[in-house]
Amino acid sequence: MIPSLAGLELCSLEPEHKLKKILASALEQGSVQGPLQGSVQDSVQRLAQKSKQESLASIEAAPKPSWNAAYFDLEPVSLFQESSRSQKAQILNILGQSLLAESYAIEKAGIGYMAKMTLLAETIEERMLYALFSADEATHLAQLMPYMESNSAEEDSFLRLLSDFLQAADRSALIFVIQVVLEGWGLHHYRSLSKHCQHPALADVFKGFLQAEAKHHGTGVTLLNDLALSSQTRMSIVEALAGFLQIVRIGPQRVVAAIAQVKGDLSRSQRIRLLTELETERHSGQRLELLRSLITPVSPEISEHLDKHNLFSPLPPERCT
Ligand SMILES: [Fe+2]
Ligand SMILES: [Fe+2]
Repeated sequence: MIPSLAGLELCSLEPEHKLKKILASALEQGSVQGPLQGSVQDSVQRLAQKSKQESLASIEAAPKPSWNAAYFDLEPVSLFQESSRSQKAQILNILGQSLLAESYAIEKAGIGYMAKMTLLAETIEERMLYALFSADEATHLAQLMPYMESNSAEEDSFLRLLSDFLQAADRSALIFVIQVVLEGWGLHHYRSLSKHCQHPALADVFKGFLQAEAKHHGTGVTLLNDLALSSQTRMSIVEALAGFLQIVRIGPQRVVAAIAQVKGDLSRSQRIRLLTELETERHSGQRLELLRSLITPVSPEISEHLDKHNLFSPLPPERCT
C-alpha cells in the first residue's frame, strides 16, 4: 500500500529496531550542526538519550495535567463543576492528550507536505528551503514523541480534510491554505499551548517550534506574492477554507467529547447547555477572526467570498450539535 502524503496512517517501528537508533543519532547531529538552538537542541538530545518509558514515567509522576481547566474555559461549566476530583483530572488528561495527538498528527503531515513541496519547487532555492523545512517538521515530531501515550492519532474531521487536501491540491493552493493560513494559525496555537502549559519541559518544546513555524509561514506569504491564482485554484482554496472554517464555527467539540467520555452520553439539551456555558460563539468568534486576519491581507476577494457565505460567523449553541 502506498502511504498517503500526510502519512497519518504510518505506524512506528518496534522499540529496539536499529533504524530508531540511527534516527536518534541523525536528530542529535542535526541539532548540533544545524539551526536548532537552546531548548530545541536540549529536547532532541533528551529524545536520543531517554527512552519513551522514562519520559512517560516523569509525566505520570507530575501531579498536574498539561493544561488546566481555565485553558479550556471549563470553570463556569456546571457538568465540570459537579464532577469529582478524579473525573475532573480524567477530563483534563483526555483534553491534554487530544491536543498533543493533534499537534503530533499535524507535524507528521507537515513532513509529507514539505516533501511534496520539495518536489513541486520551481527554483533550487525553493527546493532547498522545503527540504530544510521537512527536517524542521521531523524534528518537531521527534520532540513530541516522548509525550505521546499512543502514536496513532484518531482521525477527526480536521485531519481528514487536511490529509485529503494535501493529497490533491496544486502548489499554489497548498501554499495559500497550508502555509499562509494553517501555519499562521498554528503559530498562534503553539504560542498559546506553550504559554499555558503546566509542564515546563513540554512548554519549552512548543516554544521551540515557533521560530521554524514563523519561517514556514513567512515563506508561504513571500511565495504567494509572486503567484497568479487560476480560477480553478481559487475554487479549491475556497472549498478547503470553507471546510476548515465550518469546523471552527461549530465550537469546542473536543471539550464536549471529553466530558461525554467521562460523564457518559449527553442529551441534546445537555450539549446545548454545555456549549452555552463554554461560550461557544465567543470562543469560535475569536478563532474565526484570527483566520480572517490571515486570509484578508493575501486575498481580500477570497475573504469576501467566504464572508458572503457567513463562514466567519460562529454558530449559536443549538446549531453546533
Ligand atoms: Fe512543525
Ligand atoms: Fe511548519
